[in-house]
Amino acid sequence: MNIEGKAYRTIWFENNSVKIIDQTKLPHQFIIKNLKTVKDTINAIKSMKVRGAPLIGATAAFGLVLSIIENKDHSFLKKSSEDLIASRPTAINLKWAVDRMMKKLSGVNNNDILKIALDEAKTIVEEDVKFCKNIGLNGLKIIEEIYNKKKDIVNILTHCNAGWLATIDWGTATSPIYHAHKKGIKVHVWVDETRPRNQGANLTSYELNEEGISNTIIADNTGGILMQRGQVDMCIVGTDRTLSNGDVANKIGTYLKALSAKDNNVPFYVALPSSTIDWSIKDSKDIPIEERDSTELSHIEGLDKNNKLQKILIYPQKSKVLNLAFDITPAKLVTGLITEKGVCEASEKSLKDLFK
Ligand code: MRU
Repeated sequence: MNIEGKAYRTIWFENNSVKIIDQTKLPHQFIIKNLKTVKDTINAIKSMKVRGAPLIGATAAFGLVLSIIENKDHSFLKKSSEDLIASRPTAINLKWAVDRMMKKLSGVNNNDILKIALDEAKTIVEEDVKFCKNIGLNGLKIIEEIYNKKKDIVNILTHCNAGWLATIDWGTATSPIYHAHKKGIKVHVWVDETRPRNQGANLTSYELNEEGISNTIIADNTGGILMQRGQVDMCIVGTDRTLSNGDVANKIGTYLKALSAKDNNVPFYVALPSSTIDWSIKDSKDIPIEERDSTELSHIEGLDKNNKLQKILIYPQKSKVLNLAFDITPAKLVTGLITEKGVCEASEKSLKDLFK
């Protein structure tokens, strides 16, 4: 999608290095970074220079390519794959991409391994773009239906950033919105700020602005009253891991939005590519929930009056802080899953009918 009118993807391979947009600096600074080693990719994932389930999966795939460029020894590659999987625990796309790469590379000789790894990483990227585009076309039908009934602007609430910045292009939750906008359907997006890291305010609102889509940033607790007032027609969020029973792990605060949507009869959709489905875990209690550094909550970063990025403490110095990055929305609160293959119920049967 576009930044200042120029089309970008979030990640690409050039001159034996991986190029990314440093998402910790958006929206105030647009910086492209070079990742040259597997360690660079691990650090970029941990520090959230790249983030969002599909994008960290693609970054890990390229991380293995860099690992092979550094050292063709199989034990080095194996250690790289383990370190990449451990870099963030909740999004299943990370493990999915690493496992897929390692399967492709198993038994391959040293002369061919780099080419095969690079081809596979590029295939993962192209597939994600295609899947996200299709998620958009499938979700578009739902927005169109609401628009045809309402004959007025469709108000969509989203949480975190499940936009193109979280994927390679298009996004998951935002893809139906981009497609609706391109088709001339009037949409307006309520963007949850998404504390503590403000992915909604810093990334979702930023990317929607760049595409000319009307949006309003709201504090995370505002969605409830907007739904009570009839100012939200639907919610669309992304996910880091969806179980085969339809339970959804996503950015902390998603669950509360789903509860509020249920209470107010607002349809609550989750958009995802099939790489985000975890077919192995049966109970959502077994999903590892990432706990991040408390300073993400206690400190906040922004521009000072001299336009310089500054980080300041906003909490009492002695207070304890808990920073859980994700929560679980049970399938019973999800109206439907918007996937690359179509829209289905959040249930084992529907997911299996679509994918197995
Ligand atoms: O901690 P983040 O910013 O990586 O969390 C991202 C999300 O929760 C997204 O909603 C999810 O990864 C889906 S991205 C299409």
